[in-house]
Amino acid sequence: MNILTLAGVMVILFSMSWQLALLSLIPIPIIIITLIQYAKRVRPAFVYRQQELGTLNAILNDSISGVKEIQAFTREDLTMHRVGKQIETYLESNLKALKLMATYTPLYDFAAGLGQLIVIFFGSRLALQGNLQVADLVAFFLYLDSFYQPVRNLSNSWEAVQESLAGFERVAEMLNETPDVLPPEHPIPLLKPVRGEIRFDNVFFRYNPEEAFVLENINLDIPAGKTTALVGPTGVGKSTLVSLIPRFYDVSSGKLTVDGIDVRDLDLHELRANISMVLQDVFLFHGTIRENILFGKPDATEAEMLAAAKIANVDEFIAHMPNGYNTLIGERGIKLSGGQKQRISIARAVLKNSPILILDEATSAVDTETELLIQQALDRLIVGRTTIIIAHRLSTVRNADQIVVLEGCTITEKGTHEELLAAHGLYYKLYTVQQNLTLIPAEDAQD
Ligand SMILES: Nc1ncnc2c1ncn2[C@@H]1O[C@H](COP(=O)(O)OP(=O)(O)OP(=O)(O)O)[C@@H](O)[C@H]1O
Ligand SMILES: [Mg+2]
Repeated sequence: MNILTLAGVMVILFSMSWQLALLSLIPIPIIIITLIQYAKRVRPAFVYRQQELGTLNAILNDSISGVKEIQAFTREDLTMHRVGKQIETYLESNLKALKLMATYTPLYDFAAGLGQLIVIFFGSRLALQGNLQVADLVAFFLYLDSFYQPVRNLSNSWEAVQESLAGFERVAEMLNETPDVLPPEHPIPLLKPVRGEIRFDNVFFRYNPEEAFVLENINLDIPAGKTTALVGPTGVGKSTLVSLIPRFYDVSSGKLTVDGIDVRDLDLHELRANISMVLQDVFLFHGTIRENILFGKPDATEAEMLAAAKIANVDEFIAHMPNGYNTLIGERGIKLSGGQKQRISIARAVLKNSPILILDEATSAVDTETELLIQQALDRLIVGRTTIIIAHRLSTVRNADQIVVLEGCTITEKGTHEELLAAHGLYYKLYTVQQNLTLIPAEDAQD
């Protein structure tokens, strides 16, 4: 609309007096220079303001989620100071951007005023010389306002565009990020029924190209329908190894196949639909316990949901909850104990009922008795399912069909519980230490 008005008024002005119309264009270069300068100086200030706002949000989010840690370490003052300082930084960046904007905006008004001045000065001379009717001069002068007004509107839009572009730049950074895991162009479908045979073929993996390998030379057959246990010292790469199966990360070299097909050739959605996981760090969503269990299979019936809850021993503590399965559990499940959260996450994975089941320290936060109950229920469930169990408590994995020992980035031992004990390697050492710990009477342990 502004452009049309501008064009229309220009035509009228030039038809009334081309000399005056040309003169009224004199301020235009000033306006253009101002616009260019504006983009150059004000936009970076808005980008900066946007970054500071991002940092402020991150700090606030951290401080609110970590409120327990802050209290436990009595770091309230420090945190308040940090938040306060960031608020100030953000305030300053905001003021700086607005001040810059406020410096440039009057320049447009100045340019418009200059145009009017020029028209009055030269227009009145033309009128006095008799080259222009006074009535025409008045009309010209009135039209002039309709000439600068659209210019002003356009520059206002320009300001808004610049401000939005500053925000857009930040979003574009995110959108332009190439995902680490790309879906294949021509995915190969898995043969039904999915058997869940997994194979690591000379797999090397590192999180960053600059860092050392976390996994080296992994050759492992995980047979379909059997239970494979993964044990080893902390930080050795057990969780990393299982996270390669649903393609949370891609192998750095080598190959990982499910039912003989490279996971990179499988449709990501189909691959993940066939894997149930209980992750080491349990994450629950804000909502009810029912909603969290149904997350594994939203269209499950009430009976299916209850069956899954029973296997994971969720029903035991549900009885004490005021609203049963409809109890709200707060953000990240903060209204539950560690063991309760773990059991909900097991129920969620059980409900998903997929051919591959991965349990990463799934029962580490429950007592031995509950663990035994869950173990018994899982024993029934894992029949015919490819199951991978990661556990530090070796008593929980002794019945596995295959136990794999990871040590220093790679697999050092493989076999059944009996075979590994006979081999007298790391598994034997870990197992005997754990056995002795439970056998030593309390008085001796204090020595
Ligand atoms: N997202 C990540 N980015 C970079 N390095 C990581 C990441 N996650 C884990 N690591 C590193 O990879 C190594 C293996 O970690 P991983 O979590 O697989 O160990 P783990 O065997 O599961 O240990 P735990 O028994 O304590 O759970 C560690 O040295 C860790 O520092
Ligand atoms: Mg782990």
